[in-house]
Amino acid sequence: MAKIFSGIKPTGVVTLGNYLGAMKQFVDLQDEHDAFYCVVDLHSITVPLDRLELMDNTRKLAALYLACGLDPEKATIFVQSEVKAHAQLGWMLTCISGMGELGRMTQYKDKSQGGDNVGTGLFIYPTLMAADILLYGTELVPVGDDQKQHVELTRDLAERFNKRYYETFTIPEPLIQKEGARIMSLTNPVKKMSKSDANTKGYISMLDEPNVIRKKIKSAVTDSSGVISFDRENKPGISNLLEIYSLSTNTPLDELVERYKDSNYGTFKQDVAEAVVSLLEPIQARYHELVDSAELDAILDAGREKAEAVANKNLAKIEKAMGLSRKRAKVNK
Ligand code: TYM
Repeated sequence: MAKIFSGIKPTGVVTLGNYLGAMKQFVDLQDEHDAFYCVVDLHSITVPLDRLELMDNTRKLAALYLACGLDPEKATIFVQSEVKAHAQLGWMLTCISGMGELGRMTQYKDKSQGGDNVGTGLFIYPTLMAADILLYGTELVPVGDDQKQHVELTRDLAERFNKRYYETFTIPEPLIQKEGARIMSLTNPVKKMSKSDANTKGYISMLDEPNVIRKKIKSAVTDSSGVISFDRENKPGISNLLEIYSLSTNTPLDELVERYKDSNYGTFKQDVAEAVVSLLEPIQARYHELVDSAELDAILDAGREKAEAVANKNLAKIEKAMGLSRKRAKVNK
């Protein structure tokens, strides 16, 4: 079974974009793969965040993982900061990374806007992400489109390490869906749907109430042509809604285009909203049962143990490969 690793940051709310671009894939992949899914809280402290809010978010995201269908019998589900090897390997990989390649990361450029007060963590963040992935011998990394560049950097770092020290790392591949890889903002459909959007109407939170979802979709920006067709470039708003509808109901895009070809935007939007509400209602119900439960803690404790066992074993080899040892030890010993 191929090894899979992926994670989501517990910063702010979890959006429908996170679900359709990443979590939905996590669930589909867990049956046939050796999967590790992580709440990557160490990534959330790259920006200032209230400590209690971070604690709550960590729990909420773990509960959402399970509510969406991740099964602890099939996948290892855990919190990143509880497995200390992530931070250790993160530092080791930072030491083989270059300022130039990290400075070229588009997410860093977007978030830092070139300011002087940018946190160092935000700059070296991709090396921690590389550590997350490489620590488990990962072969496939299911992510949305915006993380592709980070997985490519991970590949570069792994190849560099293998060449410079010892053939240690498996070279991972990003796994990006054709549809849903980039769910767009509802208010500005040429921009990615993002939890950091100042306008809350731009995104749907996985925990939004049904009526909030209906309102947000009703006011989603479209165009004036009145024709329902899929054309990302010229009709980004309608195309985004079609994609959301298609993924929420597992209906092929062309079937939806055919069904709505003589319909108007109002009716179409109403149906998209109901599809999203029907998708999220059972997830939300399960989430509320789980979020404060002892069951959630037991699952995360077991996940930590399983992840730690793999991570520590691999880290010991990686440390020896780099020379972090008092004795001249062989790598595989
Ligand atoms: P994060 O927390 O920003 O997003 C989590 C996942 O959701 C995807 N995503 C989207 N997909 C489609 N449309 C959108 N609008 C959308 N918004 C977000 C992201 O592509 C991602 O797959 N650095 C990562 C977290 C991370 C990670 C890792 C991922 C840390 N270590 C190791 C994979 C492997 C991040 O910030 O994702």
